[in-house]
Formats: sequence, C-alpha cells, structure tokens
Amino acid sequence: TGLIMNLLRSVLAGVCVALAASGVQARSWADIEKSGTLIAATGGDLKPFNYFEGKQLTGFEVELTDAIARKLGLKVEWKVLSFDSLLAGLQRDRWDLAISSHGITEERAKVVDFTNPHYCGGATIVSKDGKVAKAADLAGKTVAVQTGTTYLERLRKMDGIGSVRNFPLDRDARAATVSGRADAWVTDKFVAMEAIKLVPDSGLKQGEILFPERMAGAMSKGNTELVKAFNKGLAEVMVDGTYEKLSKKYFDQDIRCK
Ligand code: ARG
Repeated sequence: TGLIMNLLRSVLAGVCVALAASGVQARSWADIEKSGTLIAATGGDLKPFNYFEGKQLTGFEVELTDAIARKLGLKVEWKVLSFDSLLAGLQRDRWDLAISSHGITEERAKVVDFTNPHYCGGATIVSKDGKVAKAADLAGKTVAVQTGTTYLERLRKMDGIGSVRNFPLDRDARAATVSGRADAWVTDKFVAMEAIKLVPDSGLKQGEILFPERMAGAMSKGNTELVKAFNKGLAEVMVDGTYEKLSKKYFDQDIRCK
C-alpha cells in the first residue's frame, strides 16, 4: 500500500503542476486567431487615449487597437481595470494585451514583452497658472500623480520634493491639483493638453517635459507570435492612413514615434 500511496501522491502532484502551469499559460497567437477575439485590457481613465463617453469605451488607443485587430481578422473584447493591475493580469493570463499608455521601461520589460511603440509622448509638469513649471520648482511642493506609473517612479527618485501623493486614477491627481490639494500634477503631455483644452478656466498650465516616453502595448512574456502579429497590424495601419486619421482626430497631429 505504501507504494500505491506514493504513486498516487506523485500522480496528484503532477496534476497540480500541470493545472498551475496551464493557469498561467498565455493564449498563443494560434489560439487567439482561432477564437476570433483579442482580449485587451485598459485603464479607461486617460482621456483622450482610453476613456468613456457615456457607457462607451473609446479613445485613441481603443480605436487604434480595434483597427489593428480588424487587420488581423479579429474583434476586441475590452476589459477596463485600474491601471495598476494591467500588467499583473497578463502574467495571470486574464487578457492577451494591455494597452494603456505604458511607457517602455527596462523594469517592465523584465516581466512583459512590449509591442512596437504606438506613440511617443512625455511626462510633463502641470500646475495652476504655471507656478510650478520646472523640475527645480518641485522642491518642497506636493505633487499629485497616478499609482503604478513611470511618473511616480521618477518623482520618488528626485530629491527635495515636499510630498508625492498618488491616486489610482489619473483624473483624481488632476482634480487634486485643480482644487489646490496638490501644487502640481505629473502626467503625459497629450493628457495635459486635453485637460487644459476641456477645462480652460481650471487655470492649469503645462510646464516642462520631465522625460520623453515611448508608449507600447504589453503582452505576456514570451508570447512572441502574438507580439509579431500585433506589430504587423500596427505597421499596416501606419501605412494605410488609418493611424494618421485617428491621430489627427484626437490630437490634431500625428503622434507616432519619429
Ligand atoms: N506613461 C505612464 C506610464 O507608463 C502613465 C500611463 C498611465 N496610463 C493610464 N491608462 N492611466 O506609467
């Protein structure tokens, strides 16, 4: 019986390992193609990149992803979650793609694979009446920023800042700055431009660019065929005018990396 028990135990262990492994296995390009649907996750809080118009998720990144998927013969099933949880969900195979203005960083590239960049932006300082405009002006100030962002990482490394307050939603970091609970907000320059345009009497003004960023979609580490397929679709919309049309619609300019 000892032998049988041991045998049972090792079979059981094997089943557990297999289950655990299948649980974290990302869907391959072949699986996705067969299913006809790409599952994409985004924050839904970053106008004009990903946001809601009433109940409808839209924005540059949403429309661009839909267009890329069409090139690949797929439709997109969107999931909206807090920005902070998007990369972790890839590792647990909850979705195939995270696209939410993620800057390409070495740190992130250790845990996910990035597609080719779909736009180039930059971290910018925003404050009321432009009182805080340069990195040096942040000394002693309260700075509002979104949780899980490259902006937060950078601010943590800067000396002399009074305090850094982080918010799960980028728009709450903005609201804190508008209401005077924070002296400055750090966000992407295109998000800042949109916020200033939408609420001109907020007094918000854009200061200097702290650092440039290349934004890309993220996929599960090692999901190479899917990265390749997405890049092919991206290249196609970049040459056939689709990208330019969408970019001009949202930004009045072409924001692809040059
Ligand atoms: N570009 C910044 C980063 O990579 C901010 C992204 C914020 N995205 C969002 N959907 N709220 O961390």
